[in-house]
Amino acid sequence: MYAEITGWGKCMPPSILTNDQIATVVDTSDEWIHSRSGIRERRVSHVAPSQLAAIAAQRALAAARMDPKDLDMVILATCSPDTLIPSAAAACQLAIGATNAGVFDLNAGCTGFLYGLSVATSMIKAGDHKRILVIGAERITWYLNWRHRETAVLFGDGAGAVVLEASENPVGLLASKLTCDSGAAEALKLPYFGTAADRFQTDYRQMTIQFDGREIFRRAVKGMQEASEYVLNKTGVSKEQVDLMVPHQANIRIIEALGKFMGMPEEKVMVNIGSYGNTSAATIPVALTEALESGRVKPHSTVLLAAFGAGLTCGAGLLRWGDRVQALGQSDAELPPCDQSALEILAPAIKASVAG
Ligand SMILES: CC(C)(COP(=O)(O)OP(=O)(O)OC[C@H]1O[C@@H](n2cnc3c(N)ncnc32)[C@H](O)[C@@H]1OP(=O)(O)O)[C@@H](O)C(=O)NCCC(=O)NCCS
Repeated sequence: MYAEITGWGKCMPPSILTNDQIATVVDTSDEWIHSRSGIRERRVSHVAPSQLAAIAAQRALAAARMDPKDLDMVILATCSPDTLIPSAAAACQLAIGATNAGVFDLNAGCTGFLYGLSVATSMIKAGDHKRILVIGAERITWYLNWRHRETAVLFGDGAGAVVLEASENPVGLLASKLTCDSGAAEALKLPYFGTAADRFQTDYRQMTIQFDGREIFRRAVKGMQEASEYVLNKTGVSKEQVDLMVPHQANIRIIEALGKFMGMPEEKVMVNIGSYGNTSAATIPVALTEALESGRVKPHSTVLLAAFGAGLTCGAGLLRWGDRVQALGQSDAELPPCDQSALEILAPAIKASVAG
């Protein structure tokens, strides 16, 4: 038994925040951000991540022409859930009407979607589940401190989703490698969010993403390369036989270094970081959806996924695509309209950051 990807979709919130707009509130420039990261702009969400997830999910279900009631499981990879209890996956289940599905959130930082895809594939292979929705959805801009220019400029919001269905054809995720280098966990963290903090002494305004950019950069390239080589060896697929690599989009220089080590020519590497920045667990399903929509995934393509993130988690997966690269249908689901600009949505956070 295999787990074929039969549907895919994304939901990017409409409000765009450009580098030049950030430069009006933070000491930075379009030139610095673009040359150091490859990012030109990102999206800022006016809604909770479960709402982004629900729209991406409805688009993926339409692409698979699947009734949400036929889903057995909804896995939502996120490290920015609407609430801890109930899970964001439960809110998403309600919004899409997947009334017969079990649900859970999965937090493996930016590697979350890859972890979810691997778990879902194993559940289908084990035979207990036939149809699973795997979503990556994030509202990382909610966490940002606009006094920390080295982190604030890198992230954005969004969601992507895929539908997996049991298949007898040898397609879907053929191998995956998931790791976690917890000895280096301190290199990327979100303190003051969780029960380790003293609830009555903590100033929750200190809660923001903190990282050691150079340390993560080095470990990300090495970790994704090792995980990628593992899945290639395991499947007996050579680097030359990979048709498309879809890596996590945290920094264009990380992507280029990985591409170089893996011997991938530029045209075989999916890059969309310029438009969205790092959308954490949403990154890979959004990039995969755009690769399908732009014809870069073809019938029977071999697709290499690679990601890294908080934990420090890391991973790779090798996908063999099936016969169909066209969506079977389209959803008319849309987010509620947004009448605010990105800077207006972020205004309270920017004000608090500057004051704090
Ligand atoms: C963060 C990152 C872009 C920094 O790039 P870098 O080339 O390593 O830059 P450096 O850390 O050497 O900083 C260079 C200078 O730019 C400055 N700088 C940092 N952010 C800046 C910004 N937004 N605008 C202008 N200058 C900035 C620094 O203060 C430093 O100044 P100094 O030389 O006077 O000390 C890069 O390391 C990175 O992408 N790391 C991984 C990202 C990550 O962890 N993502 C999350 C995990 S999924």
